[in-house]
Amino acid sequence: MMTNNEYRNWVKERLNIGEELLYLSMQDVKDTQISVEEILNLTEKAMIAYSERKSEMPAKIGLHSQPDSLMHAMPAYLPDELACGIKWGSNFPTNRERYPDITPTNCQIIYNDHETGMPLSFLDATWITEVRTPAVSLVAAKHLANPEAKTFGMFGCGIQGKAHVKMIERVLPKLEKIYVYDVFEPAMDKLIEICQPLVNATIVKAASYEQVAKQCEVIASAIPIHHNPNPVVKDEWISKGQTLIMCDCHSVYEDSVYKRADIYTLDSIEQHKVLETYGYYPWGLPEIYAETGAVAGGLKQGRTNKDQLIISNNVGMAVEDIIVAKSVFDRALEHNLGIKIPLWKSTKTKVSN
Ligand SMILES: NC(=O)c1ccc[n+]([C@@H]2O[C@H](COP(=O)([O-])OP(=O)(O)OC[C@H]3O[C@@H](n4cnc5c(N)ncnc54)[C@H](O)[C@@H]3O)[C@@H](O)[C@H]2O)c1
Repeated sequence: MMTNNEYRNWVKERLNIGEELLYLSMQDVKDTQISVEEILNLTEKAMIAYSERKSEMPAKIGLHSQPDSLMHAMPAYLPDELACGIKWGSNFPTNRERYPDITPTNCQIIYNDHETGMPLSFLDATWITEVRTPAVSLVAAKHLANPEAKTFGMFGCGIQGKAHVKMIERVLPKLEKIYVYDVFEPAMDKLIEICQPLVNATIVKAASYEQVAKQCEVIASAIPIHHNPNPVVKDEWISKGQTLIMCDCHSVYEDSVYKRADIYTLDSIEQHKVLETYGYYPWGLPEIYAETGAVAGGLKQGRTNKDQLIISNNVGMAVEDIIVAKSVFDRALEHNLGIKIPLWKSTKTKVSN
């Protein structure tokens, strides 16, 4: 890894820091060809750094301009990575009707120079969020689920459902069946059409929440978060030995399921306590065993026997976005991607090539 000075000189050779920023659209971000494997590794590294207190990341604050919508401000600094910036991320579930081809989750990052605070890049982070979110679930599954699991369930077949199903075999290679369930049947059909050619396990369109809950050893969920959750999975359908992973807070299961977990992890304890004050957990958070990154980093043990009911609730952290943004920014500079935009001069002025 380059020293701080070497790195900043490398950037300065490619970008006039303080005079311009690099704009990267979603396509530019994808054109950097950062791989899913790299995003997975960076995500795990960021989760561990957070739990080892090797980052600065205040809990996200938010605006809620429509019922069940959110806009979150997510700043983070990872000193060891020389990475610093803020994500502004939104989820408006009703956008599904307005913009059927666009995800209801939309995110942008302002990526900053950690030494001067100058903006270096404004980049779309919607695709980064799409991939790093299942990457978090995969980190949880890797350390908390039975690696021999043969069945995986997915509640919600939207952007996140598809992304989870595409990636899950990377950490659960022995899967034979993947059960998917969504209230909107065409979403299940679409997931199967897109994901089946990409995975080895057979994807099954489940008939009900109950079927997924009773038949799957590991279950992930990604349905809209409601301020007044209306749990759809009954306690009696969930057994010891299962691993439940969620990126949608406590949207799916009856509260007693969380309360009887043998191990309950959160990506950021501070973050979820703030969400609790916003009303996300009307029945309160259960007893917390550890942060998911503390388990990934070996500070706390993960699964110790096959009979534990383990739940991992990860709402997403800025450290994950910012560590990936740095890699994307570096790759974009290296391959001359994106557009350089002047910070102070007229945008009609060409600042540099
Ligand atoms: N933790 C994180 O870092 C993170 C990141 C991105 C998104 N999310 C969350 O993930 C969730 C899904 O996001 P998305 O981008 O995939 O949205 P999406 O709209 O693409 O998909 C949501 C799917 O859930 C289905 N659904 C709605 N209600 C349901 C129910 N009661 N039971 C089963 N299915 C239901 C919808 O039909 C839709 O197919 C949202 O809550 C979002 O806030 C979390």
